[in-house]
Amino acid sequence: MDHTETPSPTNNLEAFWMPFTMNRQFKKAPRMLVAAKDMYYTTQDGRSVLDGTAGLWCCNAGHGRPKIVEAVQRQVAELDYAPAFQMGHPKAFELASRLAAMLPGDLNHVFFTNSGSEAVDTALKIALAYHRARGEGSRQRLIGRERGYHGVGFGGISVGGISSNRKQFGMALGGVDHLAATYDRSQQAFSRGQPAWGAHLADELERIVALHDASTIAAVIVEPVACSTGVLVPPKAYLERLRAICDRHGILLIFDEVICGFGRLGTPFAADYFGVQPDLMTVAKGITNGVIPMGAVFARQKIYDAFMQGPEGTIELFHGYTYSGHPVACAAALATLDTYREEGLFERAAALAPYWEDAIHSLKGLPHVVDIRNLGLIGAIELDPLPGAPTRRAFEAFLACYERGVMIRTTGDIIALSPPLIIDKTQIDHLFGTIADVLKAQA
Ligand SMILES: Cc1ncc(COP(=O)(O)O)c(C=O)c1O
Repeated sequence: MDHTETPSPTNNLEAFWMPFTMNRQFKKAPRMLVAAKDMYYTTQDGRSVLDGTAGLWCCNAGHGRPKIVEAVQRQVAELDYAPAFQMGHPKAFELASRLAAMLPGDLNHVFFTNSGSEAVDTALKIALAYHRARGEGSRQRLIGRERGYHGVGFGGISVGGISSNRKQFGMALGGVDHLAATYDRSQQAFSRGQPAWGAHLADELERIVALHDASTIAAVIVEPVACSTGVLVPPKAYLERLRAICDRHGILLIFDEVICGFGRLGTPFAADYFGVQPDLMTVAKGITNGVIPMGAVFARQKIYDAFMQGPEGTIELFHGYTYSGHPVACAAALATLDTYREEGLFERAAALAPYWEDAIHSLKGLPHVVDIRNLGLIGAIELDPLPGAPTRRAFEAFLACYERGVMIRTTGDIIALSPPLIIDKTQIDHLFGTIADVLKAQA
C-alpha cells in the first residue's frame, strides 16, 4: 500500500466529522496513522512514533499482537455474527466465565456492551432497576463527581463532571448530584502515587445523603483514578471511606474502570489495587486491547440475584445492544486475556511502576511544570497555562512531541500518559526525554 497518496476529491477530509477534535485545524494539517506494531505507530509520511498513550488508553498489550490478530481473523470467517437476544454463541459464555474468574470478590456476572459509554449507561440503569426490583424504587438519584469522565451517553455526561462535555447538551438527567473532585494542588502537588491529603473529601457523600436522604439515592459512580480529566489519583483511604459510607446507607458503589482495568495499575483491576470492592464495575478499552469495540458491566451476585426472581418466562432486564457479546469482540477479548496472562503483562506493569514514577518525577523543575502525578503505568504532567490561552501550551507540546516521534495526550494543560504495558525502560527514558526537550524548547 502506498501510504503517502493524498486523498482523492471523492475521498477528501471534509466528510468525516471527527470526534473530540478541532476539525478545521486538523484538516489543515492532518496527523494520519497508517500502521502499528508493538510500541510504535507509523505515520502516513513513513515516520515511526512511540506510543505513550496506548492509543486512547486502550492498547495495553501493544499493537499488532499476533494471537489477537489471528483470533479475530479466524472468528470473522467462522461465525461473523449471532443474534444477541434470545440466542447465544459459546464464546460469549466462555468470555464471561473467564472474566468472572479473574474479578475480585463476588463480581461474577457480566453484561456486554460495545463501549465505555454504553457500559456506564448500562450500569446506571442496572442500579436503578436493582433497587426497583427490591421494592426500593424511590432510590433514583445518581451521584457522580466533579471532573469525572464517564463517556458521552446522557447518563455518562449527567454523572460526569467535566463542564465542556455537558454544556452543549441541555439539562441531561435530573436527580444527579456530584461529589467534589479529589484534587487540591496546594495540598497534593508532586505527590508520588496516592496523595496523603484528601481522604476526608469522601465525607461529602454524608452531606449529600443528609440533603437528599439515602432513600432517594441509588448509586455513586467514580473512576478509581480519574484519568481523562488529567490523572487525579485518589487520596489514601478515600475510596475505602466512600465504600463505608455507601454501605452505611444502602447505596451501590460503581467503579468506572474503563481505563484502570486490565493491568493499568499493575493489578487486574483498580479494585484489586486499592482493595475496595465495588458493587458494579464498568470496563471497555483494554478488554479487547482496543482491537474490536467492546465494553462490559460486572455485577455482584446480590445484584444479579435480585433480577432472577419471579416467573421464569419473563425478560429480567429490558436492556441490551445488537452487538452485546459480538462474536468477533469475544474472540478478540479471549485472545487478549491470553496475551496478558502468557506474557505476565499486569505483573510487568507492577514491576515497571517504580521506574516509571522516578522517570516522570524527574521532570519536576522544568519550565512551566506545576504538578506531576502518577500511579501504576499512568502519569500526568500539569503545565501552567499560557496567559489568556488555556490548553495551548500543552497542545503545542503534543504537536512538538509528535514531530519528534512520540505520541502523548493532552487534556486542558495536562499531559497524560499511559503507555502499553510492554513498554521497556529505554522507551520510558525516550518518552520522558522527548517531553523534557520539548518543554525546555518551549520556555
Ligand atoms: C472512565 C471512562 N469511562 C467511560 C469512558 C467512555 O468510553 P468510550 O469512549 O468507549 O465510550 C471513558 C473513555 O475514555 C473513560 O475513561
